[in-house]
Formats: sequence, structure tokens, C-alpha cells
Amino acid sequence: MGKSSHVVGFGEDPDWDTGRAAGAAFGRLRGVVAAGHGLLEQGTEGYQKALESSCAQIGVPVGLLFILRPEGDTLELMASQGIPCCQGDVPTIGVQEGLSGWVAAARTMVVVNDVEDDGRFGPVSALGYRRLSAISVPLEHDGDLLGVLTLASPQPNAFATEDLLVVEALATNLSLGLRCREYREAEARNYLGIIRGLATALEAKDAVTRGHSARVAHMCHHIGLALGVEQPALERLEVAASLHDLGKIGVPEAVLNKPGPLDSHELELIRRHPAVGAEMLEEIPLLSDLAPVVRGHHERFGGGGYPDGLEGHGIPLHSRIIAVADALDAMLMPRPYRRDRTVDEALAELRECSGTHFDPRVVEALTRVVTAEGCGHFFSPLPPACCTVT
Ligand SMILES: [Fe+2]
Repeated sequence: MGKSSHVVGFGEDPDWDTGRAAGAAFGRLRGVVAAGHGLLEQGTEGYQKALESSCAQIGVPVGLLFILRPEGDTLELMASQGIPCCQGDVPTIGVQEGLSGWVAAARTMVVVNDVEDDGRFGPVSALGYRRLSAISVPLEHDGDLLGVLTLASPQPNAFATEDLLVVEALATNLSLGLRCREYREAEARNYLGIIRGLATALEAKDAVTRGHSARVAHMCHHIGLALGVEQPALERLEVAASLHDLGKIGVPEAVLNKPGPLDSHELELIRRHPAVGAEMLEEIPLLSDLAPVVRGHHERFGGGGYPDGLEGHGIPLHSRIIAVADALDAMLMPRPYRRDRTVDEALAELRECSGTHFDPRVVEALTRVVTAEGCGHFFSPLPPACCTVT
């Protein structure tokens, strides 16, 4: 039999319909994978991407992604969509509080097609948004509750039967993503613990600068805030600052603690420390992004620094911040071979070197911080006597 001459229209050919349905299912599958994958991105953006993908797959305007705090009795809202009240502070709800809290306690998916008919939950959520239908699912892995995903709509009956399957798939994928984040964060903490241990070992060798890295990190936090550096970059700045002199671990103790001027060979040994520290960090995947910052902390804004002779904005911003904090701490802490400087003297010296050694914007930000708050808190709990602003 020959082929039919009938030309089928869209929607009349069962094969075409099947293909279209398969294409749509594949598209949703990709969306589910993208949601879990989003969680692998660092910082709060990862949570937000995962939630936005989840909302898009179900086609609802409101979504909330909670994680369970380690104490086990509070859910922390890591990402939200369609809830204007949730800007700013991170909102929390108790386990058993509202729909999401109830799901966390019961560890079972809940579908509410119409809150008016359902009667279990009110039309206004624990976080103050209005919904007429909602679906909430626990995020679990290996028997552990990790969080809750809640999707909602101001319309009743917003969910089709197949949406429930997609939400189940989302929950599985998001749970895996959350567990991966936990492992990565634990790994980062372990690496950081090892490296900070090395930094502490370094300071044990160098009696003169004991506590210097922690103070510089603290100063960098305040300068970074004054410059508008936001999380997670602010945290990376602090970590880089706490490790900025890591490369001195290879410098002999006799050179580090030498009271008099250094000869050219000793100076060369000291000058290697930014590059050595950067090489150490490059070997550690979770800290390798800090290598250029540590490498650049002795560069000068006007050029002529080391090891690369960079200048201006060619020097990473975080290196320029560390350079200023490093210099302030060195000037304020007592040294056996010179008299202490007052804060005013130290600030005046920084301003004098602004544009040549230091980035003027950073010096200006530090001046603002010290003028507003003093600098005693940089040295907490034991501020040196010089830390008074006149
Ligand atoms: Fe240094």
C-alpha cells in the first residue's frame, strides 16, 4: 500500500504528538538536572539558581528553598522567589512552623490544591506571603533531612499530576546538590584549617609579627566593607589576608627575627615570600583563587613593587587592600628597633604614600573607618597604647 496522500496537520499525527511530549519531558529533565547543578555554584547564587530552575519547571511564581540548621530545629531560607518581604535579613522558621516546617517535621511531601478547601494551612504563610495552592517536599539524603523545597501559586489547583513526579525528581537532585555542597564546604574548612595551622606555625617562628595575620585580616574586613566589597568576596579577602605571609614559612628564623638591617641575600629571601605563598595556594584547588592576591600584596600602586612590578588597577584590588592593612599594622605594633607611631602619624604616612605605594581609594576608605570607629577594635582584645585617635 502506498503512503497516504493526506497531509496531517500539527496535533493530528500521533507520532508527532509523541515526539513533542518526549521533547517536553526531556526539557523538564534538563531543568531538573540544572536545578541540582545550580547548587554546586559557590555562595548564595547557587541556592538562587537552583530555586529559579525549580520554579520554572513547575511554572509557579513563588518558591522557597530552606536548609536545616545544624541544631536541627530551624529552617533557614537560602533562596526565595516572588516574596518581596524576604529581602535583607535571612528569615528562618521553626521545624513544625507553617507548611515548610510541617513538611520538615513529617518528612513527607504535601500538596495543597486549594487552601480554602484543604483547611490544614492558612492562605498566609509563616513568612507572610499569600498562596492558594502549594507543594512542599523534604530534601533528604541517606536518611538525613537537609532542607525543604516549597513551591506555591496565588491560584488554586496550580499543579498537574505529572508536576508531582517532577517535584520528586527535583527533590532527589536538590538533595544530592545540598550534600555535595556540605562535602565541599567541609573540605574547604579542612584545607583552611591546615593552612591556618601553617600560618600559626610561621608566626611561632616570627616573634615580632605574632598575631599580625589575624589583625590584617580583621582590618581588611573593615576596609572591604567601607569599599562596598560584598560576600562572598569579602570572606575571600579575609582568608587571603590571613594567609598573605604564608610564603615566609621558607625564610630562616634568623632572617625573620634579625633586629638590624638585612643584607642583599637576606632581602632576596624575604622578597620571595609573596611568590612562594602563591605557589603553595595554587596547589590547593579550594584556595587557588587566592594565589594572585597573595602574590600581589607587595606590589606598589605607582609601580616598583615586587615580585612582578605591577601597577595601578593591574594589581588585584584585594592585594591593594592587604598592602594598606599590612603597612598600618606594621607601623602601629611596637618594634624593638624603632619607636611606636601614633595612629595619626601612621595615617599621615599612608596618605603620604597614597598613589605611589598605596591605592588612594583604599587609604581613603581606611581613614574613613578609623575616623568613625578608631582602630582599637583591630587589635582586640589587647589594643596597643598607640591606638587612640586624636
Ligand atoms: Fe608580606
